[in-house]
Amino acid sequence: MKKLYTYRIGLVAALAGLLFGLDIGVISGALSFLTTDLHLNVNQQGWVVSSVLFSAAAGALASGWLSKWWGRRNCILFAATLFGFASLASALAANVDLLILARVFLGLSVGIATYNAPIYLSEIAPAKIRGSLVTFYQFMITLGIVVAFLTNYLLTPTQSWRLMLGVIAIPAFIMTALVFTLPKSPRWLMLNGQLEEAENVLKSLLSESEYQKSVKDLQMVSKNHTPIWQLLKQKPFVSVVLLGVFLQVIQQFSGMNGILYFAPEMFKHAGYSTPTEQLWATFLIGMVNMITTIFAIRFVESFGRRKILFLSGGMILFSALALAALFMLNHQITPFIGNIALFIIFVFIIGFAIGYGPVIWTLCAEVFPLNGRSFAMSCATMANWTANGVVGFATLRLINGVGVGGYFLILAGFAILSLYFFKRFVPETKQVPLETIEKHLMEGKPLREIGS
Ligand code: BGC
Repeated sequence: MKKLYTYRIGLVAALAGLLFGLDIGVISGALSFLTTDLHLNVNQQGWVVSSVLFSAAAGALASGWLSKWWGRRNCILFAATLFGFASLASALAANVDLLILARVFLGLSVGIATYNAPIYLSEIAPAKIRGSLVTFYQFMITLGIVVAFLTNYLLTPTQSWRLMLGVIAIPAFIMTALVFTLPKSPRWLMLNGQLEEAENVLKSLLSESEYQKSVKDLQMVSKNHTPIWQLLKQKPFVSVVLLGVFLQVIQQFSGMNGILYFAPEMFKHAGYSTPTEQLWATFLIGMVNMITTIFAIRFVESFGRRKILFLSGGMILFSALALAALFMLNHQITPFIGNIALFIIFVFIIGFAIGYGPVIWTLCAEVFPLNGRSFAMSCATMANWTANGVVGFATLRLINGVGVGGYFLILAGFAILSLYFFKRFVPETKQVPLETIEKHLMEGKPLREIGS
């Protein structure tokens, strides 16, 4: 019964992942209609896509103190409401400037949600199911992308980018209503001196033995609270924050979101001539991403983080090289070549979805020491969104400059650098208790070895 209640809480908070995904998925379908309707040039298209992403980075940064001051639950509540209104505002925007402004607010809400939801989940879930709730969050991101791709596809006959951008307000408002029913995070309550309420929340979530242990843990956390400026003087802490930041940049510079944002455009290059065909192929990409993520959630525990990252990076490298060759060698794209390109893009997506997607978020939830976890997570989330913004802004320009083939060649080069980074710096944390990882880190072990 209690477990069911915890899962229900997990489900509602993971809806923030859904917003993340909706927001990523929605623009790919709307972009070509928007471009025609508002006469956008490549620069403006880049800004329409990336304004959300850069402001999400700002939202994640602001969340560091907002979440301390307001609490995780209230931040999620605020983010869901803001997301709903900002979606409506972007659907109603009279010109490109107002659209970009509305998308800045949309981004702020996504940044706040994506910072607070994983923290809330990890603070409210009993240790046993903590891991699965964090990966469940990644699943919700991919579900959000699929839902957005599907509504894009279904709304194509209307040719209305306004409907596409507006319809995602519905899940946001449903989420607002559901978040009202969530309890506040017990750790936040404890840090704010609301001991009794914290204990009541824990009692409602945990069995008696889990409850006793959690209360002790929480009391320790509130006693050992080291200010950030002191943590920043410690080399191991700084290096692990940098590890999280680089992993997030690697995740984004894999080019996955470039494919998700501009898939219809790429399919146009690959010979899919009508918007319906392009959005259908894009929807398939979303499905492959989601289904693979479901399998990946099971693999993460049995395979180990490093092995999966190598496999994932290898598949991304192979498919990026194959796509580069395909587009560079074939100036005339026949339907046959188009289908091969689609197949290789599936390999790329599967490569990302088994590793870079879930494992990088999991590693970030594992390697940061408890004391500086909020700060470190804020840096990692901000890096994720900033790099995502760079991808959103630069992809079309790169494709226009060096061609689709050249673009995939650049991604291949980056995949090689990433594999080297994994080899040198990424620890194996599979089934290692968080306290052990933290102990090894603070003892000064090299990052690569903090798990063993
Ligand atoms: C990434 C997103 C990406 C998604 C795709 C997430 O882990 O952070 O940027 O769009 O995976 O499934």
